[in-house]
Amino acid sequence: MTLVLGIESSCDESACAVVRDGVEVLSSAVASQIARHAAHGGVVPELAAREHLSAFPRVLDEALAAANVQLEDIDAIAVTQGPGLIPALLVGVNFAKGLALKHRKPLYGVNHFAGHIYGAFLGSDAHALLEKESSYPMLALVVSGGHTSLLLLHADGHARHLGFTIDDAAGEALDKAAKLLKLGYPGGPVMQKTAVNGDKKRFDFPRPLTGAAGKALSEENRYNFSFSGIKTSLLYTLEKLNLRNDEPIEPQLLSDLAASFQEAVVDVLARKAIKAAKDFGAKTLIAAGGVACNALLRERLAADCPKNVTLQLASPAYCTDNAAMIGGLGYYHYLADHGKGDGVGFDAFARLPEITAIRFAALGHGE
Ligand code: KG4
Ligand code: ZN
Repeated sequence: MTLVLGIESSCDESACAVVRDGVEVLSSAVASQIARHAAHGGVVPELAAREHLSAFPRVLDEALAAANVQLEDIDAIAVTQGPGLIPALLVGVNFAKGLALKHRKPLYGVNHFAGHIYGAFLGSDAHALLEKESSYPMLALVVSGGHTSLLLLHADGHARHLGFTIDDAAGEALDKAAKLLKLGYPGGPVMQKTAVNGDKKRFDFPRPLTGAAGKALSEENRYNFSFSGIKTSLLYTLEKLNLRNDEPIEPQLLSDLAASFQEAVVDVLARKAIKAAKDFGAKTLIAAGGVACNALLRERLAADCPKNVTLQLASPAYCTDNAAMIGGLGYYHYLADHGKGDGVGFDAFARLPEITAIRFAALGHGE
C-alpha cells in the first residue's frame, strides 16, 4: 500500500488530500478563497498567496485527520508545480518542500493540467478504464478557468495536444460574461443557475472556429478554440438592448442572456470534442476541469458521444481544483522512479509546457 499526500495551490483553492495507490481517496480537503476574491471580480495572485499561507497548516491537519493517518504513515508527497499563478504556487511548493525535508519523504512536482485529466478517474470505478489497453487512445477535453484543450493520449504513454484556446479559456469566458451581467464570481456556476429558466435560442451568439456561419475553418484551427468573440458579442448585445449600466437587468432577459451564452460555449466545446474523438478513433472521451461540472456540457457530451466511445466525465468534486488529483497522479511519479523523488530543488512554473507523455497511461497497465 502506498499513501501519497497531494498538495495543490495553483489558484484560489488551498487543498490537501491523502490517496491510496493512486485510486482510493482517503481524504480531500479544500479551502476555497472565492469569497475573498469575489469583490475583485477575479483572483488576485498576491492575495491568494497570503490566504494559502494561513490556510495550509489547517487544511493539512484536516486531510490527515479525515484519512486517519499521520505524516509518518505517508510514503510520498506530490505538489502542484505548475501551471498556475506563481505567487500562489510558491506557497504550496515551499510548504511541500518543508514537509518533505522535515519528515524525509520523497517529493514530486506534478503538472496541474495532467492532474485535471487524472481527476476524471477518481471517485468512481473508472480507475479500471485507465488500466485497460482497449480504453486507448483517449481524448481528453480539459476545460477550466485557465485551460481549454484537447489532448490525445495513447496506451504507451505518449500524448499529443490537438488544440488549445487561442484567446480566453472557456471558464474565463463564463467568468467574464458573468461579470458583464453583474452576476458575480466565479461565473460558471452562477451562469448555469441563471440560465435554468432562460431561453437558450433567444440570442444567437457566435460559435467561433466551428466553420459555422459559412466561415471556412483553417486546418490549424480545426481543434483550436476561441471564446473572446462570444464575450464581445454579449457586450454588443447589451449595448444594443440599451441597458443602462446602473440598472439591474430584468430577470427573464438576464436568464435568456445567460442561457444563450452558456449554450454557445457548450455547443463549441461539445462539437469540437466529439469531432476530435471521431477523427482520431478515440475509445474513451474524458471531460475534466472546473467547466466539466457544467450540467449542460455533461448532458450534451452524453447525448452526442458515439456509442462505441466510453464517456468518462470527472466527478464534480474532482472537476474543480483539488489535491486528490495531484496525489493520485503523484502515485505514478512514485512508481516510475521507485520512490526516489525529485528532490527539493525544483521551481514552480507558470505556463503549460508542451505535453508529450502522461505517466499514468503507460504505467497504469504495466507496460
Ligand atoms: O479547474 P478550476 O477549479 O480551476 C482552474 O484550474 O482554472 O476551474 C475553475 C473554472 C472557473 O472559470 C469556473 O467559472 C468554472 O471552472 N466552473 C464552471 C462550473 N463550475 C466551475 N463552469 C461552468 N459550469 C459550472 N458549473
Ligand atoms: Zn485547475
